[in-house]
Amino acid sequence: MMNLIPNLVKAVDTRRSYRNFLPEELNSEDYKHVLNYIRDLKIPFDHNVDISLYLAPKEESIVYFKGPRHFTALSAPLSILEQAKLGFIGELVVLFCESINLKTCWMGHYNKEVVNRIVGNDIGKNNSKLLYCIIPIGYPNKSNSLIDSLSKKILSKKRKTVESFLHTDSLTEFPENIHNALELACKAPSAMNSQKWYYLIQKKEDKISIELSKPPGYQHIKWKYYDIDVGTAAAHIWLGLIAESYHPIVKLENINTNVVWTFLLSI
Ligand SMILES: Cc1cc2nc3c(=O)[nH]c(=O)nc-3n(C[C@H](O)[C@H](O)[C@H](O)COP(=O)(O)O)c2cc1C
Repeated sequence: MMNLIPNLVKAVDTRRSYRNFLPEELNSEDYKHVLNYIRDLKIPFDHNVDISLYLAPKEESIVYFKGPRHFTALSAPLSILEQAKLGFIGELVVLFCESINLKTCWMGHYNKEVVNRIVGNDIGKNNSKLLYCIIPIGYPNKSNSLIDSLSKKILSKKRKTVESFLHTDSLTEFPENIHNALELACKAPSAMNSQKWYYLIQKKEDKISIELSKPPGYQHIKWKYYDIDVGTAAAHIWLGLIAESYHPIVKLENINTNVVWTFLLSI
């Protein structure tokens, strides 16, 4: 995992959500790469997230656009902490796929009937879990698609600065390598590119703490599980800090029904 970090960080810059795929399966080499990566994934906290790779039948549509045949399904218990962890883990898979030239799109809204039929038996074994998202994985269709070019224009292009995410109580001056890690989080995917999270940087004795969370009480109008989205930003910060040679201690807490991430750094 650690030797992949530079490629995952590079993938942050090139990744965007794709909505126009070739209707093909992954070739056996790519399939094995993704499968092995998922199997060997090292996560810096305990979790109960399940992530598996599935193949959709040729004639079935799993999403509203031209999808690929393969997808991962992400399920977890009904808890906001597990939702946040699911976002973190799913995003590490997205970035790995991008690093080997496979395209992806996080999908909270998908064809439930078809996907449940494909995945159903697995989730059914333990119905205390919910299938929150799928991530189609495949090869880009180079020919233009209206859906893809519109979503690229409307959603993917807006990128905010680190400063615009800083909490009012945050330090505004901090080491450049921390700034670099936070810059990666400004490129994290979120439902409709809403990116409703903040960074709170504080000095605590000989440590720096970076807090990441959605504003207390925030709810997205079309998406109930927004802690998943903040989890994607947490994955970007974690990768960025490791790439900058930090060894962050990662903590997640449920504070007043809000997941608060803390990255603690020795300085
Ligand atoms: C948790 C989550 C759920 C998403 N669900 C959908 C979805 O149902 N349909 C869709 O077209 N895009 C979905 N997206 C993709 C976002 O629209 C996309 O990430 C965002 O617009 C930013 O664009 P980018 O990923 O190209 O940077 C989802 C993203 C996340 C993180």
